[in-house]
Amino acid sequence: MLNKETTFKKETVLDWMEGVRTDQDMINAFWPSQLNSKIWLTQWVKSYLPGARKVIIFGCWYGVLADILKEKLPELEIICVDKDPVPLQWTKRKYESHVVKMEDYTYYYPVSLVINTSTEHMTQEAYDKWYENIPSNTYFVIQGNNDFAEKDHIRSCESLDKFNEINHVKNCLHTDEISYEGPWNKIDNEPTYYKRFMSIGFKDGR
Ligand SMILES: C[S@@+](CC[C@H](N)C(=O)[O-])C[C@H]1O[C@@H](n2cnc3c(N)ncnc32)[C@H](O)[C@@H]1O
Repeated sequence: MLNKETTFKKETVLDWMEGVRTDQDMINAFWPSQLNSKIWLTQWVKSYLPGARKVIIFGCWYGVLADILKEKLPELEIICVDKDPVPLQWTKRKYESHVVKMEDYTYYYPVSLVINTSTEHMTQEAYDKWYENIPSNTYFVIQGNNDFAEKDHIRSCESLDKFNEINHVKNCLHTDEISYEGPWNKIDNEPTYYKRFMSIGFKDGR
């Protein structure tokens, strides 16, 4: 269940506005559904993983999730990873940032938690490699959706069960879905609705 009653500090909002002025593509990270999914994830980390300290966000994009996590859980040490160097020009001002495909990331030190909210943007092969590479005894939080209409979504899935199956969710602390509004359907002149899925698991040694 998503609690939408969230406020942000003035500094955070002003920084985001500066980001949008600097790189106009960043505006795409601020659709209501994007913001809600990151607030939802932050609430779960707060509730289920209050002891998390070092966190890697894979597919971090412009770091909006990093900013929300950092504002709500200031003790977190956040590392940002994305294959696209453009948004990382923005995140690197604030967070340790690495331009690399997430499936090729090298873990030099242990982390408490890895986050991947871009599971629908990856092939199954790339996801499997990323998942295999997560060190044992690490929590993971993943999100995906059932929006097959967006051309960049190459691995959306139809249900929460399917989402957990294809993403190898084990030792599941919590799993759920929320509905969100997608782009307006101009042909039938009506709104579109999709589901966002989220799960927290623990990668054990087995
Ligand atoms: C559109 S954005 C974010 C979408 C996601 N639903 C969200 O709200 O966080 C997807 C990001 O994932 C990154 N990405 C996709 N595949 C990746 C990969 N294999 N390794 C690292 N970054 C990846 C892209 O460069 C982009 O910044």
